[in-house]
Amino acid sequence: MSRVLHRGQILHFLDDPSTGEVENLGGSERNGSNEVNGSYAFFADGGLLVDDGCVIAIGEASQLLSSLPDDTVIKEHADALLVPGFIDTHIHYPQLDIIGAHGEQLLEWLDKYVFPTEAQFGDFHHAQRVAKRFLTELLRNGTTTALVFGTVHPESVDAFFTEAESLNLRMIAGKVMMDRNAPDFLTDTAESSYSESKQLIEQWHNRGRLRYAVTPRFAPTSTPEQLKAAGKLLREHPDVYLHTHMSENLNEIAWVEELFPHLDHYLHSYDDAGLLGRRSVFAHCVHLSETEWQRMAETQSNIAFCPTSNLFLGSGLFPLSKAESCGVHVGLGTDIGAGTSFSLLETMDEAYKIQQLQGHSLTPFKSFYLATLGGARTLDLEDKLGNFLPGKEADFLVLDLAATPLIKDRIARCKDLFETLFVLSTLGDDRCVRETWIMGKCMYQRDAGENRVFD
Ligand code: GUN
Ligand code: ZN
Repeated sequence: MSRVLHRGQILHFLDDPSTGEVENLGGSERNGSNEVNGSYAFFADGGLLVDDGCVIAIGEASQLLSSLPDDTVIKEHADALLVPGFIDTHIHYPQLDIIGAHGEQLLEWLDKYVFPTEAQFGDFHHAQRVAKRFLTELLRNGTTTALVFGTVHPESVDAFFTEAESLNLRMIAGKVMMDRNAPDFLTDTAESSYSESKQLIEQWHNRGRLRYAVTPRFAPTSTPEQLKAAGKLLREHPDVYLHTHMSENLNEIAWVEELFPHLDHYLHSYDDAGLLGRRSVFAHCVHLSETEWQRMAETQSNIAFCPTSNLFLGSGLFPLSKAESCGVHVGLGTDIGAGTSFSLLETMDEAYKIQQLQGHSLTPFKSFYLATLGGARTLDLEDKLGNFLPGKEADFLVLDLAATPLIKDRIARCKDLFETLFVLSTLGDDRCVRETWIMGKCMYQRDAGENRVFD
């Protein structure tokens, strides 16, 4: 029973709607029903043919049904929209238990809440228990791939990858490198962070669907020597990722100026160490200067835009339109535990409000693009994920268009796809994720009672 045709409404993106034609379309033309309309394709009665974990074909159900081999199983998805799995480009699994910690901005929040909780992750069994709960939460929310912070302890990464591998998830993670300005029980050294990261790369990078990210926490907690050690790891392993934070909070930026007085801006601390590039992801970038934007673009570096976190910590409003005009790839991040929801639908809702506050109107096409193909591009995984082109890995979601009475009634009043997607992103959350499929296998079913996650 390996070949399955999934039948229902299907949407996927082929390009960025802000650079394609979709945003300029008005009225009923926005619907784009059954046709490739610039940046996306929508099939009102579509078919997604999956075999051996990968997409074989996508198109009109009637067309696919007419040429199916006899042994194909047909699975109907009523009142639902099938979309590629959501991609979270910045999240901390060890911060699961401090979501919703009251009252502080970034630097005080790290001292008061984050460092004490991260101290526990030297214990493999604790880390494994949290990783299991964390991954369950991702699947419940329709997130199928994420770029994930561990803690300074190599055990935290071993535990995370062990659990991710058992669910066959495509995940990228790494050990935090942190050799100053943090409690002793959470610091390593430039040398130990280099050798421990190297060993983890050798053990986990490219093992099945797993990838490694070299993960200096942020410039204030790494000496220039440690940042250089991170650069050395990238040179020695050119296909690993670089994952860190940058320019999230104004006090943080002032602190970086004090710590690196010889440098002209924050990004320079990373650039000096050779940390920029197409597999480098910088969370936040709320307050970049013009020079920094230009350098991000030149080096094809990427940004994780984390709306719920930026609002929760009072960090500021990310200038998405600036990133667009500079051609810098952006993905959505939840940044749990500063973020307040695992749901990329809720994250889209907050992204819309952040754009509103800056006088821009984020379209739902752009939001769904950011959560799928945009995320895949940010993580340099477009050859494997992000849409349903043949050959892609079949990680996808069945979104329930009638998840609650309110959502059902509101969507019934939508006149086109644009409105339906916008209502989903405004009212939707984990309740809308009916099923999450990984490599063609159903791994989460909302209505299956106790055993909703399968492995
Ligand atoms: N900057 C440095 N560490 C962190 C962290 O754990 N969360 C967030 N949001 N920003 C950071
Ligand atoms: Zn973060």
